[in-house]
Amino acid sequence: MNTAEKINKLNIPKHIAIIMDGNGRWAKQQGEDRIFGHHEGVNSVREIVEAAVEVGVKYLTIYAFSTENWNRPKEEVDALMELLVATISIEAPQLNKNGVKLEAIGNLKSLPPACYEELQEAMKLTEKNTKLTLVLALSYSAKWEITTAMKEIAEKVEKGTLAAKDISEDLIASHLCTKNYPDPELMIRTSGEHRISNFLLWQLAYAEFYFTDKLWPDFRKNDFYEAIIGYQNRERRFGKTSEQIAKQS
Ligand code: FPP
Repeated sequence: MNTAEKINKLNIPKHIAIIMDGNGRWAKQQGEDRIFGHHEGVNSVREIVEAAVEVGVKYLTIYAFSTENWNRPKEEVDALMELLVATISIEAPQLNKNGVKLEAIGNLKSLPPACYEELQEAMKLTEKNTKLTLVLALSYSAKWEITTAMKEIAEKVEKGTLAAKDISEDLIASHLCTKNYPDPELMIRTSGEHRISNFLLWQLAYAEFYFTDKLWPDFRKNDFYEAIIGYQNRERRFGKTSEQIAKQS
């Protein structure tokens, strides 16, 4: 039985979030520049998107560029932005053909205009697709997202259009960039780091975390399937006891 066949098709996470880490270390291992690792990382992204469509994942959110990544050396930031523009432009027709809808979360206005425009074009091209929603987290950080949401809510209270007593978990969630997506059930991080790095802090409250030592450019379809199988072997209790969960099922 191959790895894909071991997946229980009745228990596929609807939403998977990924911290793609290790491109720089992978490149170093090959004696190459960091950007070479990012280029190879795009091949992993392509494979994982294909795999997500194949197994029926509905939302895939990938951390492509964090707010903190702006602090990297200028040459790396420029190269990453160029890579993003080129990748979105090259991949958009294929994504469209495969029924993938491209969306993005983050402070998109802070992206270079070429990147912002390419993204808008690709999102427009793919907006009617329903097989998989691929969400790029770009210039994204969860603390920025939550702060922005809090400001919007405070402004509504100040204007009198919202009463403080009506602030609920659902209301906060409806002010986040992810308001149209269910929370991820599974978060994968590559490269042996066990951190959340300011990614979807609110939305990952009950996600299962899957860490692998593989560096992102080495993370391919079978690794993705292994992560899903790992998730399927966990017991999700949401604060309840094992006995309560057993009774429910
Ligand atoms: C983390 O590795 C990776 C990034 C910050 C960028 C990820 C970008 C891509 C894979 C390419 C663009 C993707 C799309 C969707 C178009 P790192 O540089 O932090 O690696 P290190 O920890 O080994 O230094």
